[in-house]
Amino acid sequence: MKKMSLALLLSGCLVFTGPALAGDAAAGEALIEDCAMCHGDDGWGDEDYPPIAGLAEADFVQAMKGYQDGTLDNKEMKKQVKGLSEDDIANLAAYYATLEKAPEE
Ligand code: HEC
Repeated sequence: MKKMSLALLLSGCLVFTGPALAGDAAAGEALIEDCAMCHGDDGWGDEDYPPIAGLAEADFVQAMKGYQDGTLDNKEMKKQVKGLSEDDIANLAAYYATLEKAPEE
């Protein structure tokens, strides 16, 4: 009986954490106003800013966390990631992953 309830507890946790890992693109879109000032409405960037549209979610999250923990040192991005929660970052990653990549030059 004890084993059974542990299994139930574990599967409950899996169900619960599942959606939190995969970002919510619509929630992410609500956060892009600032990002768009540098990276553009379409996320394609320009000569000064890198394109972020179409980045794989894992790479996007890794970059954002890098700016947060100082692994990546960029003054402009450091300011941007300050107020973002883990969920915000996952949501932004999900949104930008849905955008078409900038065309190759
Ligand atoms: C003030 C300008 C500015 C704003 C606003 C800004 N960024 Fe950036 N972003 C940059 C610059 C500059 C870089 C390149 C930094 C580097 O070389 O490490 C960058 C890099 C990135 C990268 C890494 C791209 C890669 O290919 O490694 C991601 C992801 C990113 N930004 C996402 C965002 C998101 C999401 C927002 C909004 C919350 C945002 N940025 C807002 C200037 C900005």
